[in-house]
Amino acid sequence: MEMTQDKSNATVSAWMRDQTPEDIYKAPLEIAWTFDYFMSGDKVEDLYKRAKQDQWNSDELLPWDMDVDPSKPLINDESDIFHRMPFFKKLSRSQQESFTAHSTAQLLSQFLHGEQGALMTAACVTHSVPDATAKLYAATQTMDEARHVEVFAKYCNKIAMVYPMSGWLKQLIDATLKSDRYEKIMIGMNMIVEGLALGAFNNMYRSTQCDLLKQLTFNVMRDESRHVSFGHAFLEPVIADLPEDEVEDLAEFAFQAVNILASAGTAGTIASRVDPGFMMVLENCNIDPDDFFAGLAEAEEMGITRELPPGQIHSLEHLMLPAIARVGLLTPHIRGKYEEAGIPLTEDPRILHAMEGGHPIAA
Ligand SMILES: [Fe+2]
Ligand SMILES: [Fe+2]
Repeated sequence: MEMTQDKSNATVSAWMRDQTPEDIYKAPLEIAWTFDYFMSGDKVEDLYKRAKQDQWNSDELLPWDMDVDPSKPLINDESDIFHRMPFFKKLSRSQQESFTAHSTAQLLSQFLHGEQGALMTAACVTHSVPDATAKLYAATQTMDEARHVEVFAKYCNKIAMVYPMSGWLKQLIDATLKSDRYEKIMIGMNMIVEGLALGAFNNMYRSTQCDLLKQLTFNVMRDESRHVSFGHAFLEPVIADLPEDEVEDLAEFAFQAVNILASAGTAGTIASRVDPGFMMVLENCNIDPDDFFAGLAEAEEMGITRELPPGQIHSLEHLMLPAIARVGLLTPHIRGKYEEAGIPLTEDPRILHAMEGGHPIAA
């Protein structure tokens, strides 16, 4: 592992300097003061109270001193396609170990970057939502997301390094941050990105063999379940009061955001030639990309698919679409667009409700 570590540290500093003009931009959101400081006495206030009680300090709570061997599977072998590929089994032992550590770090880096996006969207909601209780709640979410950035950065660096953000995820969060009203920020983050995260954290919690990662995801997931609940509890009555054309505008925004995700095909795998981070993983492990993608195609022909194993949560089907449906954003007009895009509509909220309880579950 030693040499790979040195090489990857050199690679990481090279991409980290590479901030582009697209990374700094103006947001069109309005700032809203409010002088009505009465608490709402409803579910949002309840979530605020829970958020205050459930704050945690990762320095005290998580066993950072624990020995984590990055070459041991951090995610259960059987639950990812790579470890089932015949190609993978032909690699040298050290390449297999490097690949396990680096591909996991690349996946977890996406959570890390997503958490930074969540930190900024929560701050946007804090300053633009006109309701006092929602403002206070959004401030707690901002602190939660800061903690999530901290723990994922620390874990990625512990096992390998931080990898660049995938293009589709940047596009999705930028579309959210560049939107012109707080309702869209909450749709993009509290319903879509956090639906994605909650499903992924739940699956990771269930499959990881690393105790540190298990405890980390458990605590992050408990925070995320509040964030998803907030999206519902606050937005449902707000949307119910909006004129029809504004509801359609929000429904269109939700559809576009889901479509970014659906066209990226991210549900099952992160391996892609268009993802510079994944190509960097192969380079850091001395794996030839042509050999790797030929191996992936061979595995797929043999029926080793990217489908999630039974019991795993499917974020789009089980969490995001039911969340969009229950706040009234699957309007008759927008349903046609989902159908045209080939995105099956699922509205059963049972798994979503269960996950809002803050505990890991099986589908
Ligand atoms: Fe988070
Ligand atoms: Fe969150």
